[in-house]
Amino acid sequence: MVKIAPSILSADFCTLGEDIRRVSDADWLHVDVMDGMFVPNISLGVPVVQSIRKHTDMFLDTHLMVEKPGRYVKAFAQAGADLLSVHLETDMPPAIHAALDEMETLGVKKGIALRPITSADAVLPYLKRGLDLILVMTVEPGFGGQSFMADQLSKITTIRQYIEQYCPTCDLEVDGGVNAETARQCVTAGANVLVAGSAIYGAANPASAIAALRG
Ligand code: DX5
Ligand code: ZN
Repeated sequence: MVKIAPSILSADFCTLGEDIRRVSDADWLHVDVMDGMFVPNISLGVPVVQSIRKHTDMFLDTHLMVEKPGRYVKAFAQAGADLLSVHLETDMPPAIHAALDEMETLGVKKGIALRPITSADAVLPYLKRGLDLILVMTVEPGFGGQSFMADQLSKITTIRQYIEQYCPTCDLEVDGGVNAETARQCVTAGANVLVAGSAIYGAANPASAIAALRG
């Protein structure tokens, strides 16, 4: 069963509460945190996650596009994030492991994320220790509304094989340029969680867009 995770990066932050209600048919809510360093854009931080948490019971899938994310694991966990994903490119491996250890201690689900340039094999040391989610970026992180990078499909397939081998409960999420058409390609390649920003919030009817993504 595929899960759909609307990205609120494409919502109107002035009416965020209403925009979250509009996607309540979805499974998760995808929250993009950008620091202006790891990615050129700045989006939202801990106080916004706190406010969202008071407003909805949806599972908060929090994508940290932040340098040295270990600095913020506790703050986002306490703000009410259900899952945190940290990019492998944001710190040295021991620090990424330490961030995942802290998520475990705090009882928040733990994920890793990969830029398009990062190879499938990079997930292995983390998958072998146990993960809840691997996020494969199918655009360069930083902005919504970009075109899907089809060259990432083979990476999704390889990571799905690694998941089956080492940690079958781990979810495999794709993020970037997902629409009804590219969603099918991602699911065929092995993804089971689909993030979509513009395909949902840019649609006249977000609930129908969510249904179309489910296929
Ligand atoms: C981009 C973010 C995505 C973004 C996806 O760096 O991680 O979650 O909101 O937007 P779309 O679906 O429009 O590509
Ligand atoms: Zn994202």
